[in-house]
Amino acid sequence: MTKLLGVIGDPIAHSLSPLIHNGWFRDLGFDANYEAMQVADGTFGAALTALETRNILGVNVTLPHKQAALKAARTVSQRAAAIGAANTLTLAENGNWHADNTDAPGFTSAIGELDPNTDKAVIFGAGGSARAVVFALVQVGIDTVILNRTSAKAKTLADDLGTEQTRVGAIDQHKEYLESATIVINTTSAGHNGFVFELPRGEQRRFFDLSYGSVAAPQLRHASEMGWRAQDGLGMLVGQAAYSFESWFGEWPDTKSALRRCEMAVRAAL
Ligand code: ATR
Repeated sequence: MTKLLGVIGDPIAHSLSPLIHNGWFRDLGFDANYEAMQVADGTFGAALTALETRNILGVNVTLPHKQAALKAARTVSQRAAAIGAANTLTLAENGNWHADNTDAPGFTSAIGELDPNTDKAVIFGAGGSARAVVFALVQVGIDTVILNRTSAKAKTLADDLGTEQTRVGAIDQHKEYLESATIVINTTSAGHNGFVFELPRGEQRRFFDLSYGSVAAPQLRHASEMGWRAQDGLGMLVGQAAYSFESWFGEWPDTKSALRRCEMAVRAAL
């Protein structure tokens, strides 16, 4: 019987996750189908219960349900508990949901090998994605500076997940903090409103944007023009998908082919 998987969110129509996972199922000959599941805020629990009557193996979870997913699960991984959000749920054989967060390792795999002199990361934003990013960077021993529009949120993030070295600041002062940064990670949704953070000269330092496609393009273009090595968020999207896939099926999928498919889909939509 065909196994069901999917991604729960709102909005969800433009999610690339079905393209990624169904591509892997096809390549590997798996009898499984991955659906985009539109679920309104406040109705996550009911949607999960309804899925239990189908042949569900697991689901990814995206905005606005990542905290609800954590609460709905009977067991929770250490990293999901620390980050305070889950993006991967698995229905165990005993009928209980297990929650994990694969955004953090997905980010680590997307940034790949860091230059040995990478010691300071500046993070724009302090929302859910920033929490996964800070968690991942602290794990690999990189100091973080968290800059946010709402300063209280940056402070909470630093208190929850940072180290003694973690600093916080106001995002409108970002230029001050960039001189000593070796990598900058934009986790904000500012690009969705057409906003571009002005950057100083990059001198081959790295600028990583968690967004991709048309909302990320102006910021990435500006970063490249200023001499930063700019990278969009597709690698992290594929990375988190691969870790979810591995937890459901016990094998590591082909991330290169998935990245190619995503890049083609994004280019077609530009
Ligand atoms: P996600 O889970 O994707 O991180 P989120 O939790 O809604 O989404 O967080 C969005 C982040 O983008 C926040 O850090 C937000 O700043 P506030 O905490 O002050 O709301 C940031 N953000 C959104 N629009 C912004 C803008 N125009 N300028 C600066 N920061 C912005």
